[in-house]
Amino acid sequence: MRRPAPRLEYYVPQNGGSVADFGECARRGLRGPKKSLDPRFLYDERGSEIFERICSLPEYYLTRAETEILERAGAELASMLPPRCRLIELGSGSSTKTRIILERMNESQGAVTYSPIDVSRALEGASRELLESYEWLSIVGVEDTYESGLRLAHSACGGPALIAFLGSSIGNLTGSAARSFLSTVASVMGPGDLLLVGVDLDKPESALVPAYDDAAGVTAEFNLNLLHRINSELGSSIDVSKFAHHVVYNAGERRIEMYLRSLEGQEIEVCGSRIGLRRGELVLTEYSHKYTREGIESMVSSAGLRVARTWHDSARRYALVLCSGA
Ligand code: TRP
Repeated sequence: MRRPAPRLEYYVPQNGGSVADFGECARRGLRGPKKSLDPRFLYDERGSEIFERICSLPEYYLTRAETEILERAGAELASMLPPRCRLIELGSGSSTKTRIILERMNESQGAVTYSPIDVSRALEGASRELLESYEWLSIVGVEDTYESGLRLAHSACGGPALIAFLGSSIGNLTGSAARSFLSTVASVMGPGDLLLVGVDLDKPESALVPAYDDAAGVTAEFNLNLLHRINSELGSSIDVSKFAHHVVYNAGERRIEMYLRSLEGQEIEVCGSRIGLRRGELVLTEYSHKYTREGIESMVSSAGLRVARTWHDSARRYALVLCSGA
């Protein structure tokens, strides 16, 4: 009897891929007058759990808006894909949103190959759950950063691909980083490939700030978890109660800015470096950029891509943008 092909394959680059060193990044970011901590370190196991809770907060409309669009437009999206298209997703894929796309693709084309790309170890567990739900699914996952993981995933199996970058993650990059990221994606894309990007639209500060500074304090917990991680993984002894979650909307740059604010003058030690913080001093942890329609157009076209279709949620707070090679 012939054995069926394995439905789950995993690539974990030998050299650890492009996964950065937490200690070195933290130490470098905290040196100097403008302090920051690299946002990618927000998502350890605990961080990812807290983030799941953020997604269902009443103030955090983004996940619900994106899900609503996929529920309404998923079949139309699937009908625009070339035959035997696979799904490559930049970011973790256990969520309802991924499931909606996979199910619509299954309805229009039958068997589907799915390539999630994520630095998180949680990836493999999430993949097994998906395989249990869908007997028509095969998974070729890559545990790496988006850019090098995408190259690997794209070359690992042939045929056209829908590349999905959901959750307003593009907004976490500055304007120029977003353009160069999309250019890299564009350079990997073949003629039949499409890119689906979730983008949060600009709106009044009164609607934006609560989404990143919720009443229950879940986002604060997410942000402060970075300091707990420095303590537990880098052997520091930072008094986390001397820091607060701090959110501002920078209207000029159209972005939410998230900081950890030092509540008093203090000195901390990270990987052998002593770091002095003034009372009120801010440590940047994340940006979340908001876009206008024109802003989306210009970002997409400057990356050498073309907007093929844009869908909005009913309250027009959020956009799902389908792009093709120009
Ligand atoms: N992509 C999400 C966003 O920009 C990430 C996010 C949501 C986030 N809430 C956060 C990042 C709080 C850091 C802190 O909306």
